[in-house]
Amino acid sequence: MTSVVVRDLHKSFGDHRVLAGVELDVADGSLTAVLGPSGSGKTTLLRVLAGFERADRGCVEIGGQIVEDGRVHVPPEARRIGYVPQEGALFPHLDAAGNVGFGLPRRERKGKRVEDLLELVGLEGEGRRYPHQLSGGQQQRVALARALATRPSLVLLDEPFSSLDAALRAEMRGDIARVLAEARTTAVLVTHDQDEALSLADRVAVLREGRVAQSAGPEELYSRPVDPAVATFVGDANIFEATVRSGQAQTPLGPLDLGRESSLFGEGDPVLVLVRPEQVVLANANGSQAPYLRGRVSNCQFFGHDMLVTVLVDKGASRVQARLTGGAPWRVGHLVSIKVAGPVRAWPTREGPSSDWAGTFQGPRRAGSGKPSSENPFSRNKQESQVPHGRPSGPGS
Ligand SMILES: Nc1ncnc2c1ncn2[C@@H]1O[C@H](COP(=O)(O)OP(=O)(O)O)[C@@H](O)[C@H]1O
Ligand SMILES: [Mg+2]
Repeated sequence: MTSVVVRDLHKSFGDHRVLAGVELDVADGSLTAVLGPSGSGKTTLLRVLAGFERADRGCVEIGGQIVEDGRVHVPPEARRIGYVPQEGALFPHLDAAGNVGFGLPRRERKGKRVEDLLELVGLEGEGRRYPHQLSGGQQQRVALARALATRPSLVLLDEPFSSLDAALRAEMRGDIARVLAEARTTAVLVTHDQDEALSLADRVAVLREGRVAQSAGPEELYSRPVDPAVATFVGDANIFEATVRSGQAQTPLGPLDLGRESSLFGEGDPVLVLVRPEQVVLANANGSQAPYLRGRVSNCQFFGHDMLVTVLVDKGASRVQARLTGGAPWRVGHLVSIKVAGPVRAWPTREGPSSDWAGTFQGPRRAGSGKPSSENPFSRNKQESQVPHGRPSGPGS
C-alpha cells in the first residue's frame, strides 16, 4: 500500500497550460477519483504520476519517495505502478493470459499467478481467448488484471468504464472496487462521469482549469460543494440569489434554513443558495398551506428511476427543478405546491447580486435547458455545453 502526494504540479504542451498547480493527496489503500470534463487534463495527470510524462514544475511523491520534481525523475518502470489506459489497450496478438502475464518474469507467465489474476477479475478459465473474442467488459477486466500482475503499489485507471454500456458499467464499477480492495492497492481513477466518481471513490478530487477545485468524500462534495460551478458539475442544482435575514436565506422559494452555516453570514448578506432537486417537495395545489408556495409545472422529464419536474414560481420569475421518485400525477400546466426540505448550502456573493449563476439548474449531465453557462469553467468545450435535452451519461471523455 502506498500514498500519493502531489504538490503544485504544472504541465503545459507548448503554450497550452493543462495542469496549473495541482494539489492532491491520496491516502494509503484508498480509491481516489479525479473528476473533470473532457480536456481538463485527467490523462495528463495520470501520465505524470506514472512517469510517462515529465512535469514542468512541482513534486510527486509515491509511498514516501519523491519520483518527480525539478531534479528527480524516476522512470515509469521503477515506480511500481499499474496503469490501465483509457481504452484498455490489450495486445491483440496475445490471448487473455498472455496479456495478463505480459509484465511478469517469463517463468511466471504461464503459472498460477496468471490464473489467480484471471479468477480475481472473474475470468477464470477464459485465458485462451483473444481480445477480439472478449466483450468490452471482459477486455477491461483483462486490462485491470494485467495492471495488477506485478503487484504494483499504486494502480492508475484512465476512464476504465467509458467504452461500456450503462448496465455493464454499473456492474464493472462494483467489480473493480472489489478487486482493488482485495488486492489492497491504492488507486487513482480518472473520469468525467459524476455518478461514477461519487459511487465508487472514497474521495473525489474535482479538476478544473488545471487545479483541484475541491477534494472531498462523495457525500461532502455533493452536499457542500465549494462553489456553484462544482455544485452544478457534480449533480443537478437549483441556484438562487438570496439575502440573509434572521439566519435564513430569503429566496424566491421563501425563507430557507441555512442549517449550521447560518452563523457564517451576517444580516443582509447577499448569497447564492444551492437547492438540490431532491430537496424540493411537490404537493397538490389544493389543500396545502404555508410554507408551501404555488407554482406551475413547465416541464417533466422522465428517466425511469426518477423524474425531473420543472416548476415556475413567482409568476414565472424563477424556476425550480424537483426530482421525484415513484412517478408523479402532475403534467405540464398543472398548479402545484412546492417547498424545500432540509437545510441548504449557501455561498457569499462576491460582487453583489445578479450573478450569472442564479437560475442555473443544469449540471453538464443535462446541460442545455438552463441558462447559458458561458461562465461555467467546466464547460469550456462548446460541444459539452450544448448537450441536448435528455440524459446523456456525461459530457464526453
Ligand atoms: N502530448 C500532447 N501534446 C499536446 N497537447 C496535448 C498532449 N496531451 C494532451 N494534450 C492536450 O492537453 C489537454 C488535456 O488533455 P488530457 O489530459 O488528455 O485531458 P482529459 O484526459 O481530461 O480529457 C487537451 O487539450 C489535449 O489536447
Ligand atoms: Mg483522458
